[in-house]
Amino acid sequence: MNYIGSKYSLLPFLEKNILEFAGPKTAPTFFDIFAGTGIVGHRFKRLGFRIIANDIQYYSYCLNRACVGIHREPTFTGIKKDISCLTSSLPPDGTDLVLGYLNGLEGVEGFVYHNYCPGGTSGTEYPRQYFTNENGKRCDAIRLQIEEWRKSGKISDDEYFYLLASLIEAIDKVANTASVYGAFLKHIKSSASRPLKLQRLEIVPARKPQKVYNEDGASLVDRFPHDILYLDPPYNHRQYCTNYHVLETIARYDNPQLYGVTGLREYSRQKSALCRRKEALNVLEDLVRRTPARYVFLSYNNEGLMSEEEITGTMERYGRVELRKKEYARFRADIDRENRKYKTNGVIEYLFCLRKSRAEKKGITT
Ligand SMILES: C[S@@+](CC[C@H](N)C(=O)[O-])C[C@H]1O[C@@H](n2cnc3c(N)ncnc32)[C@H](O)[C@@H]1O
Repeated sequence: MNYIGSKYSLLPFLEKNILEFAGPKTAPTFFDIFAGTGIVGHRFKRLGFRIIANDIQYYSYCLNRACVGIHREPTFTGIKKDISCLTSSLPPDGTDLVLGYLNGLEGVEGFVYHNYCPGGTSGTEYPRQYFTNENGKRCDAIRLQIEEWRKSGKISDDEYFYLLASLIEAIDKVANTASVYGAFLKHIKSSASRPLKLQRLEIVPARKPQKVYNEDGASLVDRFPHDILYLDPPYNHRQYCTNYHVLETIARYDNPQLYGVTGLREYSRQKSALCRRKEALNVLEDLVRRTPARYVFLSYNNEGLMSEEEITGTMERYGRVELRKKEYARFRADIDRENRKYKTNGVIEYLFCLRKSRAEKKGITT
């Protein structure tokens, strides 16, 4: 998924540097407290770490609950028989069968169609074009079917989140936006006109399910033991709740009241203090102070709200800090390419690596 701050392209950099400090044998539990797409937890799970993942956004919880939380391929045994009766050709396994069935459903005019598509919003105060009519209706049909299967107990929790995660990834690929949902485009772009198609997820096998949460990170950081705390907070004022509100609503499917041209949902409880210059450093200090982890790694860059010196100064109160750097191409929504002028194309990506002293130093709270 093309997500603000995604670490997909930085995975080799993270892996190399983090493994220099701690490995799955010496520091087995890795807490990804701002998990976003879940790509970091997914990679470190593959390396043999036990993952705890968390994010304040529910669509992110769904992605992580599936790609990180699930420890073995789902079988969809509870619905396989029902679907097999309806299809003539039998795909090799339960997942292909279920995804094929959902991809073939006839569209339904539901919440997505009525609120985010041109057909459903034409003639209203706020016509919107986040998806084509066809994709909006398909999304509604699939989302309703997933919910019905869950309510009737035909799919397990793992299977439910697997399908939701697959839907979130698929609908994002056909969104008629410049990458984020702060606005939609006036004309349907070519990727948005392709049909919505659920695809298989890559499940990393593990001995046990991994823990996944949907809370403010500050309320979780000292709740259970972990060896590594990985912090990948928002870098600037852009709130994820307003940039990904459509995915949040599709994940929740809770018929919210929508507001204004872009159709925002209520988001006050998901606003992040890390997006505010005056609060970010205090929040960071609080997390570093309270975590029981021996190692804290923080991803950030040279254009973020907190400066390199402020972060180093804060983290150094709790142990020895090393800073690793990498030149990196900046995240750009399509609209940025047209409207924004940047001094440089690249930014410097930071990884602050803190080896925490055992004893908490006194007199440091701000
Ligand atoms: C830079 S992104 C993480 C990207 C992620 N590492 C990836 O590669 O996909 C920051 C994430 O922090 C989450 N977030 C912001 N404030 C939070 C908070 N107080 N508690 C938990 N998550 C928060 C956002 O929802 C967003 O998904």
